[in-house]
Amino acid sequence: MTGPSAPGPALTDEPEPSARHAGAVGEGLPRTRLATLPTPLLPAPRLSQAVGVEVWIKRDDMTGLGLGGNKARKLEFLCGEALARGADTLVTGGGSGSNHVQLTAAAAARLGLGCVAVCYGTDPAPAEPATAGPGAGPSSGSAVPGASGRGAGRSSGSATPALGLRLTRRFGADVIFTGSPDRTSVDARLEEVAAKLAAEGRVPYVIPRGGASAVGAVGYALAAAELSDQLAEAGLAAVTLVVATGSCGTQAGLVAGVGLIADARPAPAGAEPNTGTGPVPSVWAGIVPKKRHDSCPDPDPDPDQGRRGSGSSFEVVGVPVSRPPEECVERIAGLATGCAARLGSDRVFTEADVRLLGGYLGPGYGKASPEGDEAAVLAARTEGLVLDPVFTAKAMAALVAEARAGRLTGPVVFLQTGGSPSALAALP
Ligand SMILES: Cc1ncc(COP(=O)(O)O)c(C=O)c1O
Repeated sequence: MTGPSAPGPALTDEPEPSARHAGAVGEGLPRTRLATLPTPLLPAPRLSQAVGVEVWIKRDDMTGLGLGGNKARKLEFLCGEALARGADTLVTGGGSGSNHVQLTAAAAARLGLGCVAVCYGTDPAPAEPATAGPGAGPSSGSAVPGASGRGAGRSSGSATPALGLRLTRRFGADVIFTGSPDRTSVDARLEEVAAKLAAEGRVPYVIPRGGASAVGAVGYALAAAELSDQLAEAGLAAVTLVVATGSCGTQAGLVAGVGLIADARPAPAGAEPNTGTGPVPSVWAGIVPKKRHDSCPDPDPDPDQGRRGSGSSFEVVGVPVSRPPEECVERIAGLATGCAARLGSDRVFTEADVRLLGGYLGPGYGKASPEGDEAAVLAARTEGLVLDPVFTAKAMAALVAEARAGRLTGPVVFLQTGGSPSALAALP
């Protein structure tokens, strides 16, 4: 039942000869292997029993870069583009504990690139003087006023909230602070830092906060195809995927992937054609799901195109943990459209393609909620899962409440997007 595919060079499960090798998805979309894929899809029987619906966990906390997490998938395409442009320094930013910032620093270390991290606020854990060891990437410290911490960072410390920052420094990034508590203070500074580096002869590549760009979202469009194959393998259909949504790139990539998978699926004889924009773009053709759900009849025996086999479809439901839902809808639709364009499709995503579960933000971004804490304990004590208070615990709180209220009827896949450092820092 498995249809043939047209694998591109970066789409096999073979290990890359070098992490710095930039492959391509189909035509001309550079990718650098940083994540260990596919991540496992695991049943969660005790959690299922506790909430009354069938729950599975997609372990994107096991992507294998740094301490793992969703950002590794985005960084494969962001860093691929950076390398293709000849960049020698990654410039990104966010909160000082940002998982995206940490993993960008880890990616830079893997690729032998410099990394400057711009954080809002002030430094809660000043670093020791730089002690970069052999093999470290190009230093960018001298180029950036206020930068600190290319070296090993603190060897010990009691400020657990700064665990993420200490990891960023451990990976060798230069960290600068905007001095303003406003998250958006990072954005203009990224461009300033890049301009300064360029003036000094460096080749910077700016990655927006959260890695939220159409390029980064491509990583999650591919994740949609990966999950679709796994669902078909497990015999699961009509699945809802629950994911924490912050900067929106993860949900946008998933939405784009699900949409393009639907476009690629041949319409059953006599049925209305799919709502997509016609032929599957060649860039995407090699990466649509290869497996078929056994319950899907195969109306078209033509084995060409590399796009047969339709996997198992799923609906993506985001749990906003950072921005107001209205802002999320707009960002997700825009990023998904941009992501599809990167993959060669002119499909336009709208608010009708975006499903969110609001009401689980608690006291605000970055602040634990009582429901999240309860859900994290439940997940730990039923399935041995470690959830962080900022992202994954709140998404799990939504899953638990919606399932118990009968509004999620399963099967449900929970995307465990990582956050291990803040999970550990938050342990009582
Ligand atoms: C652990 C974790 N989960 C989920 C998210 C949300 O992903 P996105 O920013 O792509 O919406 C983030 C973003 O930082 C994260 O670190």
